[in-house]
Amino acid sequence: MHPLLIILLFIFFSQAINARDTITPSHPLADNEILVSADGRFALGFFTPGSSNNRYIGLWYNAITDKTPVWVANRKNPVKNSTGVLSISGNGNLLITDQSSTVAWSSGVANVTNPVAQLLNSGNLVVRDSNFSDGEFAWQGFDYPTDTLIAGMKMGVDFVTGLNRTLTAWTSESDPSPSQYYALLDIHGDPQLALCSGSKMVYRAGPWNGLRYSGIPGTVTYYGFNFSFIDNKKEISYSFNTIPSVLSKLAVNQSGVLQRSLWVQDSELWNIIWYAPMDQCDYMPPCGPFATCNPNNSPICDCIQGFKPKSPNKWMYRDATDGCVRKTRLDCNNGTDGFLVLPNTKLADTSNVTVDMSLSVDECRVKCLSTCSCTAYAPADVRNGGSGCIIWTHELTDLKMFTSDVYGQEFYVRLAAADLG
Ligand SMILES: *[C@@H]1O[C@H](CO)[C@@H](O)[C@H](O)[C@H]1NC(C)=O
Ligand SMILES: *[C@@H]1O[C@H](CO)[C@@H](O)[C@H](O)[C@H]1NC(C)=O
Ligand SMILES: *[C@@H]1O[C@H](CO)[C@@H](O)[C@H](O)[C@H]1NC(C)=O
Ligand SMILES: *[C@@H]1O[C@H](CO)[C@@H](O)[C@H](O)[C@H]1NC(C)=O
Ligand SMILES: *[C@@H]1O[C@H](CO)[C@@H](O)[C@H](O)[C@H]1NC(C)=O
Ligand SMILES: *[C@@H]1O[C@H](CO)[C@@H](O)[C@H](O)[C@H]1NC(C)=O
Ligand SMILES: *[C@@H]1O[C@H](CO)[C@@H](O)[C@H](O)[C@H]1NC(C)=O
Ligand SMILES: *[C@@H]1O[C@H](CO)[C@@H](O)[C@H](O)[C@H]1NC(C)=O
Repeated sequence: MHPLLIILLFIFFSQAINARDTITPSHPLADNEILVSADGRFALGFFTPGSSNNRYIGLWYNAITDKTPVWVANRKNPVKNSTGVLSISGNGNLLITDQSSTVAWSSGVANVTNPVAQLLNSGNLVVRDSNFSDGEFAWQGFDYPTDTLIAGMKMGVDFVTGLNRTLTAWTSESDPSPSQYYALLDIHGDPQLALCSGSKMVYRAGPWNGLRYSGIPGTVTYYGFNFSFIDNKKEISYSFNTIPSVLSKLAVNQSGVLQRSLWVQDSELWNIIWYAPMDQCDYMPPCGPFATCNPNNSPICDCIQGFKPKSPNKWMYRDATDGCVRKTRLDCNNGTDGFLVLPNTKLADTSNVTVDMSLSVDECRVKCLSTCSCTAYAPADVRNGGSGCIIWTHELTDLKMFTSDVYGQEFYVRLAAADLG
């Protein structure tokens, strides 16, 4: 064997031997040490972002060349120099302290008898009782996402614990503290993935339709992915998983763009396979109520069939914000109204809808017709020919049309008989 290779192998194995995945009260993690998950996939330790001098505890993919952290523990509370230590107290509180023992950050847990913190193969840093390896975690890093959702991590609300897991962008390359840009699950009506800047919603991916978010039709082409969307009394959450050979993340970047990336090992780069806002229709709401938005049309806004511009003059000068109004009043009592099917949409905003999963699509149509305030309906789940019922009873806003009809989601708009023709 070549001597250099022997040296390299020695360095490799000595590192592998030194690497540990746990912190115990008697064995904290110093600034110059790292934890490595048992399978080598993730590493956790102190890092310095960009041009800053501050030290943070971060989590990164250990096996690839890009060491950008996907999770930061003390994003608001750095240690100012390299004297920091990550330790676990005798009752399970994870602590980041500096030389003067000032606590920069703590996990807040204090109820574990024989505590250990462990970096799992998923990238989750967990605190548990070392005597119960398969018991519940007293604390887990996955409950506090930073700007990035990695495989197995959940976004959304847990009604039992009160957790509200959002993705919040770093302030700058040198400062992981939270900026005004964040992605969340908006739980009103039919829950939607949304991107906000401060209190303003910038982009809406729409509700989950069983396969994907209504506004991200390309999701069904992702290879090696598994998605989970849970909507029940205990939680509303979204997560994804991948086969081991696929490395993917969903993150809000520092410009406030939500993006899904795939690691390409050959080029050692993250390939951004989807991002939003992407086109003019994504910045909500460009077209006003009862209008459709199609980024490939000029102008991009059009009234839904059976509707006309509310302010024709403004509309003429391409200000579509007032939207459209009905040409013919609905005639609920006579039962003559019908539905226009728009085949290929991102469903109108569902933050003010009612959902009944027990209804079939036909029953949904009947329910809409018999509810005089109903303006539109759609199946809540598009799998197996459709099921469940979303009812809109107000203005229809942020309705986007996709041009490819491969993954279209049907949306049924109620019109008076005269406007159906
Ligand atoms: C490191 O910073 C802490 C305050 O965060 C300070 O007390 C300590 O003296 C510093 N140590 C060195 C070696 O600079
Ligand atoms: C601490 O843990 C014990 C045993 O698991 C439990 O009975 C107790 O309620 C916990 N206390 C708090 C404050 O969580
Ligand atoms: C629990 O684990 C600790 C070490 O982590 C050990 O010292 C202790 O004896 C264990 N206790 C029980 C009840 O097994
Ligand atoms: C979750 O947090 C976001 C960001 O602070 C907030 O806009 C949203 O209303 C919260 N959701 C719930 C259910 O508390
Ligand atoms: C995908 O989901 C199926 C069914 O829930 C599960 O059996 C499988 O392990 C999942 N695969 C991944 C990569 O999560
Ligand atoms: C955020 O992502 C968008 C779209 O991929 C890109 O144009 C922008 O430069 C990115 N911003 C930063 C700070 O990386
Ligand atoms: C019911 O329909 C008939 C025939 O289309 C029409 O003449 C009548 O005005 C309608 N009634 C109402 C209340 O709209
Ligand atoms: C939600 O719907 C109610 C009637 O069901 C209506 O009064 C209210 O204005 C709507 N809010 C929005 C934001 O559309």
